[in-house]
Amino acid sequence: MTHTKEFEGKVAIVTGAGQGMGRAVAERLAAAGALVSVNDIDADSAEHTVSVLQKGGAEAVAAPGSVTSTQQVSDMLDLTLSRFGKVHILVNNAGVLRPTKVIDIEEDEWDFVVDVNLKGTYLCSRAVLPTMRENGWGRIVNFSSTAGKNVSTVGGAHYTAAKAGILGFTRHLAKEEAAHGVTVNSVCPGLIDTEMVRKTIDGARTKMYADSFPIQRLGQPSEVAELVAFLASDRAAYITGASLDINGGDLMI
Ligand SMILES: NC(=O)c1ccc[n+]([C@@H]2O[C@H](COP(=O)([O-])OP(=O)(O)OC[C@H]3O[C@@H](n4cnc5c(N)ncnc54)[C@H](O)[C@@H]3O)[C@@H](O)[C@H]2O)c1
Repeated sequence: MTHTKEFEGKVAIVTGAGQGMGRAVAERLAAAGALVSVNDIDADSAEHTVSVLQKGGAEAVAAPGSVTSTQQVSDMLDLTLSRFGKVHILVNNAGVLRPTKVIDIEEDEWDFVVDVNLKGTYLCSRAVLPTMRENGWGRIVNFSSTAGKNVSTVGGAHYTAAKAGILGFTRHLAKEEAAHGVTVNSVCPGLIDTEMVRKTIDGARTKMYADSFPIQRLGQPSEVAELVAFLASDRAAYITGASLDINGGDLMI
């Protein structure tokens, strides 16, 4: 698919972009002209996404590191600024899911799931705010989930709690930054066909869920990327503090 170059000259950081929805978002933004900084905790997968983007004629750089580390987030930002000079768009996509029931969740696992999803969103957002304020323009798109509004289909309570926390963080930050030209929104995907789902549930259970949705299939990463691209664009200038559902009709509120 060809896209208009609506992100020409815009610099985007996409976290967790080594695979899944993060990679799809990186590809979508790059196809519309964005310069993309590809973060992932897995350096090889970040490099792979960069090579995919470059093959498509885009400019991209790998900025590996964990979103849970203040130092690594700072390094990711420095690398992006030294390569591209600014940051206009941050997509807080990095996330992890565990299916454990509360009665069995060890404290370490609780911290891990909440830290990657929620603390990572805070650390990366905090890091980019000064450069976005300098631009007088910024877009932060956070990855919550249907889990954030209801209960996770395949994840545990730590995942549900972290994704609900992201919705609160989104609303609060949106209010703080609106006067600086920075909008902050969340997307709430339902069940999307990625590795996260594939490694958590088997094909039979996946089909059972898919059949239960009004649109009887899983979502595709590219479909979520399309929504993220909209929120990251000027077309969404009057949307902030919002959470947009994309779940095939699984949750309607
Ligand atoms: N797949 C779904 O059904 C679904 C539904 C709703 C929301 N989500 C959310 O969407 C986002 C993307 O999910 P996905 O399905 O593409 O997952 P995925 O597991 O396919 O990809 C996640 C990526 O994040 C990276 N990552 C993990 N921890 C990291 C860290 N500390 N720092 C940097 N990168 C890290 C992983 O290496 C991986 O490349 C996540 O936030 C997830 O919680 C997924």
